[in-house]
Amino acid sequence: MRSFPLFLKLQGRPVLLAGSGAAAAAKLRLLAAAGARVRLYADDPSEELLQACRQLSIGCEHATLSAADLDAVDLVVGAAGEDAADHALSVAARAAGKLVNIVDRPDLSDFTMPAIVDRGEIVVAISTDGASPVLAQRVRAAIESVLPPALGRLARFARRFRGAIQARIAENGARRRFWNQVFAGPIGQAVLAGDERRAARDLIRAVNKGEPKADAGLVSLVGAGPGDPELLTLRAARALREADVIVYDKLVDPAVLDYARRDARRIYVGKSKGDHTLPQAEINALLVAEAKAGRHVVRLKGGDPFIFGRGGEELDTLVAAGIRVDVVPGITAAAGCAAYAGFPLTHRDHASSVTFVSGHSRDGLAKDGIAALDWQALARPRQTIVVYMGLGAAGVIAERLIAAGQEATTPIAIIENGTRWDQRVIKGELNQAEALVRDHGIATPALLVIGAVTRAAQMGARAELLAAAE
Ligand SMILES: C[S@@+](CC[C@H](N)C(=O)[O-])C[C@H]1O[C@@H](n2cnc3c(N)ncnc32)[C@H](O)[C@@H]1O
Repeated sequence: MRSFPLFLKLQGRPVLLAGSGAAAAAKLRLLAAAGARVRLYADDPSEELLQACRQLSIGCEHATLSAADLDAVDLVVGAAGEDAADHALSVAARAAGKLVNIVDRPDLSDFTMPAIVDRGEIVVAISTDGASPVLAQRVRAAIESVLPPALGRLARFARRFRGAIQARIAENGARRRFWNQVFAGPIGQAVLAGDERRAARDLIRAVNKGEPKADAGLVSLVGAGPGDPELLTLRAARALREADVIVYDKLVDPAVLDYARRDARRIYVGKSKGDHTLPQAEINALLVAEAKAGRHVVRLKGGDPFIFGRGGEELDTLVAAGIRVDVVPGITAAAGCAAYAGFPLTHRDHASSVTFVSGHSRDGLAKDGIAALDWQALARPRQTIVVYMGLGAAGVIAERLIAAGQEATTPIAIIENGTRWDQRVIKGELNQAEALVRDHGIATPALLVIGAVTRAAQMGARAELLAAAE
């Protein structure tokens, strides 16, 4: 460890800042945010710095720095960006016995300013010991992505009850277990979701019983996105990290499961057409049983849980069973596939609406064509139709649309394994839909997209597109 990390209470303490440009403005904002009384020395203040001074009501000295100025402060920060000035300030500050930081000059500094992740009470500081501020920023971005913005609220909540819990649970280990359950379970979730009243009520109830109630389980219905693990939302990644049990479908990419804790139980309920490892009723019963045993269950589904994902049915069952449910939306296949195939779903010149339909029989697309779908409405111009689960019925769908007045030559795109490394995009016309599926051996998962917007679709996988663009 080349530098020792400390958190300094700067509220009301005098800090000297020297510099005139953007770097000085940035440090001024940072020091002011920490409550420091900044004494700013700027020979030739830039407009940006003057603006920061006005916003923060901080005066700006033009006088030349003297030894007395250095004596009067606790810390010194130099942001002049000129070798001679920076050097002189560093020497003078050290001579006055003050700790000094010179921006981008670790050789002239006693301390460096870390990259900061600020979550209120929770502050994470990252240092590369001046080796690479850019690298520190990258680490910061990585940490930002795993710490929910409301984490500070959780810390404030814990502070509020810390004394009371300490008085009620004397033993250290038991207290640690208690807090871990609070943070990882529904009480912590409620705080993060902004429902502190419920969280406080449950915490008091829990501590009166000695620990959180055994039946305080939670089910998160989580959308895993269409395939590429990078399309997982931050909330989905957090739910995965916190889950005790993960109940997942066939459409979930294995790489997504890497976000889960190692000791989390994974239960595959392989749902794809003709491959229902567990019937829906049994999946529902499993979710209820696991949650009633006090576990945090993540029900992980491809795409978005509420778009052709039976999330609604599971939600109804869980609510009826009195289980807490948390829904984490995901990027649905239509949005992900269109983006990775390089075309928009709506376009001012070609489509002012987009409709998602299911080509699966349960939703009414019987072979005889008597479907729950309104073909006349779907056949109207200037719209995009995205058919989920429509491979088997591609021919019937095309026939019905053409019979309802849609141009037989309407452009279409069939996207197989959208957003994954092996994505395929096949283009053609509506009257070729069935033949394209057959001739190209398209397999599930695949989407059929109908409409003029698909003209812009690219044939290759995303990686190839990026390579071509370089
Ligand atoms: C049961 S639905 C689930 C949809 C999911 N809830 C969503 O929002 O994307 C499954 C269908 O979604 C479509 N699908 C899901 N992921 C896909 C992908 N990566 N590429 C193409 N189609 C996909 C296919 O039509 C597949 O048959």
